[in-house]
Formats: sequence, structure tokens, C-alpha cells
Amino acid sequence: MNPIKIKEGVYWVGEIDWDLRNFHGYSTQRGSTYNAYLILDEKITLIDTVRPYLYDRMIQRLSSLVDPSQIHYIISNHVEMDHSGSLPLLMETAKNATIITSPNGQKGLIAHYRKKDWNFKVVKSGEIVNLGNKNIKFFLTPMVHWPDNMMSYLEEDNVLFANDAFGQHIASFERFDDEYPLGIVMEEAKKYYANIVLPYSSLVQKSLDLVSPLPIDMIAPAHGIIWRSQVKTIVGEYRKWAANQAEAKALVIFDTMWKSTEKIASIIQEAFEFLGIPTKMLNLRYNHISDIMNDVLTARFICVGTPTLNSNMLPTVSGFLTYLKGLSPKNRIGLAFGSYGWGGQGVRHVEGALRECGFNVMESISVQFIPDEIQLQEIFNKLKLEISSLLEISNLIGST
Ligand code: FEO
Repeated sequence: MNPIKIKEGVYWVGEIDWDLRNFHGYSTQRGSTYNAYLILDEKITLIDTVRPYLYDRMIQRLSSLVDPSQIHYIISNHVEMDHSGSLPLLMETAKNATIITSPNGQKGLIAHYRKKDWNFKVVKSGEIVNLGNKNIKFFLTPMVHWPDNMMSYLEEDNVLFANDAFGQHIASFERFDDEYPLGIVMEEAKKYYANIVLPYSSLVQKSLDLVSPLPIDMIAPAHGIIWRSQVKTIVGEYRKWAANQAEAKALVIFDTMWKSTEKIASIIQEAFEFLGIPTKMLNLRYNHISDIMNDVLTARFICVGTPTLNSNMLPTVSGFLTYLKGLSPKNRIGLAFGSYGWGGQGVRHVEGALRECGFNVMESISVQFIPDEIQLQEIFNKLKLEISSLLEISNLIGST
């Protein structure tokens, strides 16, 4: 449990959650970390904490560098309990510490922990606090991920402590982006954006504008790997994701009862592929909705299929659509499809949900019982024309 030096006098003292497999509904197959950082200066400063069940390990790690009772400032960049959860325990030891946080951070911390006797220093955007030899500047970044979020920038070392922004759920011994397979780091950063940050994309753009003029050598997020070799790459990807720049790719997301809806899914895939559009089949029984969101982040066409069950769609499909609507991707083209025995309400509900997402919705495909070869060929021909015309209109091929 050694601290890791990230700059002279600045250490990673967080904890690794090797066993985490679910983070409020988001599947975290690679676990996660809660990154806390210690700055050894005249005023010893800790940035964020860890989940309470990892507090003892964090304190052991930190105590090899400094007596925790001597901590002068605790910067709370974000109230959510994966970062503030150990504050009540820590404040029993660091009794004289002052918590530096945003105005919403103070309100949130008091509401969570009911400790009115804690010392707070509430900061504004652009405010600088001197730690002795180093200065830390604060940027309020509301809704990246909660209203209280802020980022802290260590001026002398050009380090941006970005909290949830630029994070990834990865548990690893390695701490830096040049020590771990970059493809995995980027994939997990994308999944994190798609599942946590996406609904707040317009505010992400504002936050990026706020910190982009800074010289940044290192982005130290609150989860996962620290960016030091790929700072420009991850900032560029955030700009792209925040702009909802989807590509000419299609997702065929479905569940099926007697494989009739699956047959329609396959012919939809064939139509897209015929037109040269990369297409992915995502059966909701075998794909977690948070993994599907990773694909949604960059795909223009979102096709969703269900049979009709009890006058409705299958629960797997409605669960996905509820999740999708909450995450609010923009500029997408939707298609509802499925088979039915009688009634056929399932596809109509899917179409309604795609409209509620704000998607431009294509004409739905609904087939009674089992689609035969003639019906499938008709679907193929009709889709081919419709997709071609959409591509022509928006000139999607080769553009984002
Ligand atoms: Fe990592 Fe919004 O908490």
C-alpha cells in the first residue's frame, strides 16, 4: 500500500476497488479506483477521499507520508459518496482540517453527513488558495457530474484534478496512461462518458472551454488511470463526445421471444451492411445496457426491436429505453421493429420511446407472427431505399 508520486510533493493515495462490478447500474467488469491525492506543502492538502469501506487502507497509505491529523485542507471536488464517503471518518482524525468545496458542495456535504461543526472554505470559480509553495486554482464545473462538481488545478505543476471528468472504471496496479494498454483505457473512458457524463454534454463543453486555456501536463481524474501521455487525445475525444458527433454506424438492439423479431433484426442488419454501414447486433439478453451505451455514443442509427408481450414491449427493451432516454444522446435516427401475435402494441411503444428521446424516427417495421422470405425481402428493399435517402439527405457516409 505505497503512495505513488505523480509530481514532486504530490502523491496518489487513493484505493483500488478490485471487486466492484456494478456502479449504480453501470457494469464495471474491470473494477474501479477512487483516486485521492496528497499535496505535501506547508499546508498539507488532500484532494478527495474513497468509499468508506476502503478508508483504513487509504489512511495506511497516506500515513506512510504524513500524520493524517496534520492535514490542513481537504479539497472535496464532488459530494457523491465514492469521493466524499470517508470524510466523516477522516474528520475524526484531521480535526482541524478545513474542507474546501464549491457552494453546492458545502450544501451537499452538510445534507449528506449532518456535520455542521466542520470548517468549510467555499470557493468561487477562478479562486486561488495558497498552500505554501504551491497554489491551487478552482473551476466550478456543475453537472460534470453533479451540481456541486469542481476541478482543482495545481498551478506550479500543471496538474488538473478533474474528479469524475476523464475518469474510467479500471482497477489496476498501473497508475498512468503509458503503463496500461491504451485501447482499454480509451474504451473505458468512452464507456464512462456514455454512462455518466453524456446527459450533461453542453455543460461539459463549457467546462472544457474553462480549463482548455490552462497548460496541462497531467489530468488526474477521480477514477482509473491518470493521463500524462495522452492528455490531448482524451481532451479531443471529450470534445467529440460532448458535441454528440455520431458516425454512420448502425446498432440493432433487440430481444426476441420466438426468434421472429430476431429474423427482422437480421434483415435490418443486412440492409445496413448492403449500404456499407458498419452494423452491430446487440441482443439485450446477452449485452448489458451500459455496454450498449458505449456503442450508442458514436452510432447514428439506433434500431430497437421487441415482440409484443402483455400489450407491451419486453421488460429488457423497456429497461434499455428508459436508460437511453435518461442519458439523452442527440442527433440520432431511430427505427422500431418487431413481430407480434395480435395487437402489436410493443413496436408502437418502442416508436413512442424513440420519439421521446428526440430521435428522427423512421417508419416502424411490424410483422404478425413469423416473417416469411417474401416479407423479409420487402423489408430489405424498403429499408435500403429509406436508408439511402437518409444518407443522401444528410450526406452521412464518411462524415461524423
Ligand atoms: Fe465518481 Fe459522480 O462520482
